[in-house]
Amino acid sequence: MTDKKHVYAIDLAQQQLAQLNSELLLRKLRITQSPCDTHVHVEQKSLKAFCSNDYLGLANHPVLVEALREGVVKFGVGSGASHLISGHSIAHDLLEKKLAQFQDKHIPDVKALFFSTGYMANIAALTGFARLAPEGQASIYSASLNHASLIDGVRLAKAQTKATVHLFDHTHLDTLAQLLEKDSSPLKIIVVDGVFSMDGDIAPLQELLRLATKEDALLIVDDAHGFGVLGAHGHGLLEQLNIASDRLVYIGTLGKAAGVSGAFICAQESLIQWLIQKGRPYIYSTATPPAIGYTVQKSLELIEGDEGQLRRAQLVRLISIWQTEMIFSKWQKLNSPTPIQPIVLGSNANALQAAKLLDEAGYWIPAIRPPTVPVGSSRLRITFSANHSEEDVRELIKTLQVIEKKVLESTS
Ligand SMILES: Cc1ncc(COP(=O)(O)O)c(C=O)c1O
Repeated sequence: MTDKKHVYAIDLAQQQLAQLNSELLLRKLRITQSPCDTHVHVEQKSLKAFCSNDYLGLANHPVLVEALREGVVKFGVGSGASHLISGHSIAHDLLEKKLAQFQDKHIPDVKALFFSTGYMANIAALTGFARLAPEGQASIYSASLNHASLIDGVRLAKAQTKATVHLFDHTHLDTLAQLLEKDSSPLKIIVVDGVFSMDGDIAPLQELLRLATKEDALLIVDDAHGFGVLGAHGHGLLEQLNIASDRLVYIGTLGKAAGVSGAFICAQESLIQWLIQKGRPYIYSTATPPAIGYTVQKSLELIEGDEGQLRRAQLVRLISIWQTEMIFSKWQKLNSPTPIQPIVLGSNANALQAAKLLDEAGYWIPAIRPPTVPVGSSRLRITFSANHSEEDVRELIKTLQVIEKKVLESTS
């Protein structure tokens, strides 16, 4: 028998969970019983999913399923150690070379470094690059709607290096320009989501690069939601905007449009060498299984080739249907050119009610609530995959029309 009085942490956890529940902020796991796709089995239900980041529909692609099988036969299931000990396989090396090739028109002398997750890559980039300057001499400028992993990277960089941190609004860059102009720190770092993960809009990267060049800053772009989706060959936002600079650091993730797992940082080779020396999340973590690296190489071939082009064209069609056929809706839709199409409902209660009604109608679109989004902007984050048909999107729009009426009636 445990003596409950003495387990203070458990009491605290129970109180905090009850508090979250009362604020409609408790998160719940749902267990899927089928591969990630547009139709999934979730807890004995069959649902149409419009919520994953599998934008190109590659997560269950037969070529990649076969590649992973082959990769495991060639390389086994584990890497056995961190990259700098004995875990760095030819599969990781070839993948990094291919990832660097994807950005070689945009970053001179580019090299790539593979990580097991985007969260780790972001922590490594921010803490690693902030350490280039002596303690207390780096300034970091971070977009206020950046992803949590960038926010955590900035916080950790501040704790470890005493960097100064400024937040900026990516839709109004005047304040950023003024702050940068006044800043005499030897090392300035601007960091921004390429595609904002909860809003779907694209960062004003040309303008940010102009400012970074003027003020001699490094510009880190986390293109987790643009890699594979944007650009004629799916190389991402730098390709789409056709920009180039050695002050660009490009981060992409491989568990979203690429359909597999992992992430990478592309930067001028000295910056990558520095991360290999000083990027603690890179140094002190077991390398991802080489079979994953092998599978991602095949995914990059799909992304860059005809199949990727067809899949991106399908996404463009689906986004266009959404933008033209959702105009009846009184709900606040955000102006997004990407497969992320949020509907902002405001309160947690409204977002939860809409998600529940969607679930009852056979759809999986969870309510996104704070702290993932700012308080008062809870939403449905609808995402498209190239595996959705045009009919799938039209049916969703019809269902939303009915649900919108019900939610509005219940709140009026
Ligand atoms: C913008 C952004 N960056 C980084 C990440 C983290 O990537 P990963 O899921 O590979 O850890 C995410 C994940 O959702 C993201 O949305």
